[in-house]
Order: sequence, then C-alpha cells, then structure tokens
Amino acid sequence: SAAEKGGWPSFMAKEVSEGPEAVANTLRGRLTDHGVDLGELGVLDDEALRGIDRIVIVACGTAAYSGLVGKYAIETWSRVPVEVDLAHEFRYRDPVLDERTLVISISQSGETMDTKMAVEHAAAAGARTLSICNTQGATIPRQSEAVLYTHAGPEVAVASTKAFLAQVIGQLLFGLHLAKVRGTMTDEAIAEVVEELRELPDELRQVLAEQESVHELAHWMSDTRSVLFLGRHVGYPVAMEGALKLKEISYIHAEGFAGGELKHGPIALIEPGQVVFVVVPSPRNQALLHSKIISNIQEIRARGARVIAVAEAGDAAVLPYADVVLRVPLTLPMLEPVLQVVPLHIFALELATAKGLDVDQPRNLAKSVTVE
Ligand code: G6P
Repeated sequence: SAAEKGGWPSFMAKEVSEGPEAVANTLRGRLTDHGVDLGELGVLDDEALRGIDRIVIVACGTAAYSGLVGKYAIETWSRVPVEVDLAHEFRYRDPVLDERTLVISISQSGETMDTKMAVEHAAAAGARTLSICNTQGATIPRQSEAVLYTHAGPEVAVASTKAFLAQVIGQLLFGLHLAKVRGTMTDEAIAEVVEELRELPDELRQVLAEQESVHELAHWMSDTRSVLFLGRHVGYPVAMEGALKLKEISYIHAEGFAGGELKHGPIALIEPGQVVFVVVPSPRNQALLHSKIISNIQEIRARGARVIAVAEAGDAAVLPYADVVLRVPLTLPMLEPVLQVVPLHIFALELATAKGLDVDQPRNLAKSVTVE
C-alpha cells in the first residue's frame, strides 16, 4: 500500500533511500573506539579463525556480487585466500572442502534454495560455516555455525539495493576482525578503516542528495537498447551489479566487465553512441588503477562510446574523458563500492520508471528463489 511505501512511489525507491540507515545499523554495536567487536561469532572464535586456511563465499545474484567485493577486502586484509562461487555452481561440482575451509554464505532472505544447499554441502564435508544474512531466524543462518546479521531492515522490492550495501559492510567488518585475529593488519591500519566506516552513512546521504543528474540521464536514455558497465578491482563487481539491476527492472541488455578484459572481447561491442558506465577508483588512493581505467576510457571513446563516469568528488583528471560525471565522496578503496553502487541503483530505478515499468515486481523474477 501507499502507506507502507512511506510516500515513495515504489518500495525500491524507499529502500534505496534507506541505504544510510542500512549501513549505520549494520555497523552499530560492532565498532569499538579503534577496532571491531564481533563477539557474536560464537563457535567461530579466534582459535577457529586462526585454524582456517581458505575461504569460499557462496551466494546468488546481487549477494554474489557483494561477495566479490568481500573477496578483495577479506583477502587483502587477512591474507587468507578467498574464492567466490555461485551457490548453484558450487554445490554440483564436488568442491574441495575440509575443516580448514570457511564457507561464508551471503543471503538477504536466508531462504535461497541454492545457497541453503551449498551450505548443507559444505557442512557435510566438514567445512566451517558462517552466514551473512538480513533475515533473523531464517533457514540459512539456522543451519550455519555462526551468523553475522546485516541490519538493512526488510527489503520488499525484488531488486536488492540496500541489502547489497549491508552485505558489503558485513564482510568488511568480518575482514577487519579476521585481520586482527590473524595479526595481518596493524591496529593503526584497522583504526583508519573504522574511522572511514563511520563516515559512510553521511557520505551516502550526500550521494542520495545529488541524484538529479542521474534522473536526467535516465530520462534522456529511456530508449537505449544496451548499456555496458566497466570497472576494475572492487569496481568490477560494482559494474556487474549495475548491469544486473538494469536487466532486472529495466529489461535492457546490460553487461558488466573488468577493464583489463576490454581488449579480450568486449571492445568489439563498442560502436558510436554505445553508452558505457565506468566505475572510477579514486586517484588519491589508487593512482595506478586510476590511470589504467583512464586508458580504458580512452580506448572506448576513440571508438565513439559515450562515457558516464562514477568518480570521486576531487577527481579532476577524469573530466576530459567523460561525457557525464556522477560524483561520490572520497573514501578508502575497499569502501568505495558502497558509495559507487548507489548512482547505478538509482539509474536502473529511474530508467525503469521512465519506461513505465513496475519496478517492484519485474516480470519473471521472485524476491526469494526457494525452488530450483
Ligand atoms: C533473487 C532476487 C535477487 C537476489 C537473489 C539472492 O534472484 O531477485 O535480488 O539477489 O535472489 O537472494 P538472497 O535472498 O539469497 O540474497
């Protein structure tokens, strides 16, 4: 009903607007003065976490893209190798598992059949299991050894938005905790990330307040047949998530790919007028990656692409290369996806709206896929 939507035209619009609270609530009670406190992990205590030598993240859809972000952060900070597997590929593959493998499942609903079966498979093989879930008491957290709840609040729209932000936050918290337990990060380095995490809700509010240009863009592009998304490092899963959202609710062909893959195939798709969103890392923190993505932009622009950059507020270097720049505040590299994904979510929402589609109930899709 209209009342449930709190004055918003759709649940999706309402849920996008709730991103800052989703992040703040997922952080709440888990940050100490300079670190992270995840006492809630129970049997996955410090000793257990020192005993693992590998992590496999299993999930589907948007949750799997959040897992790809988590992989970069957890592996970089804790030096434990991390793989991400789609839950349905994992469970039918006879994956290598033992008691030193930690399988982290990520699920908004906690009821996705493929993810649930992957966790059961992992547990039966003797692996340790941690659930990152947004729904209290759901099946997947109940069948896992430990659970880290995300507190995004109920998500009704089929297309997941605020839950993605909270899933990334949950994994960042776990990555910091693991790094502390395993002694792979200094207290100062952990404190620096914690400080930046605290800033995220306000930074998200800034991103939400400046979305007029995304709105105009979506209306201007409502006849578009195909959109590409390009990113590197943690910007790569952001690109994939941006493309998924556009497929899900706008029914537009969209593809996300890694910048380094461009010349291995996707560049053949570029013809004059093709719109490409490029997720640009901050030049201040990631000078090398930034220059790599600028050369990617030059390659596609030389072939006539129209470039929409999602870039950090102080990034002047991107200006000569982009047709449109959507700005996000400066944060640390591993935290960038939380801010960068928001304009992409809003773009899909506005484009679907411009096309007159039902954004909350897209055709053929279900919020929670509890069957095969
Ligand atoms: C469905 C939804 C997606 C969601 C995926 C995983 O496909 O439409 O939005 O990302 O399931 O759902 P989960 O509840 O496991 O996160």
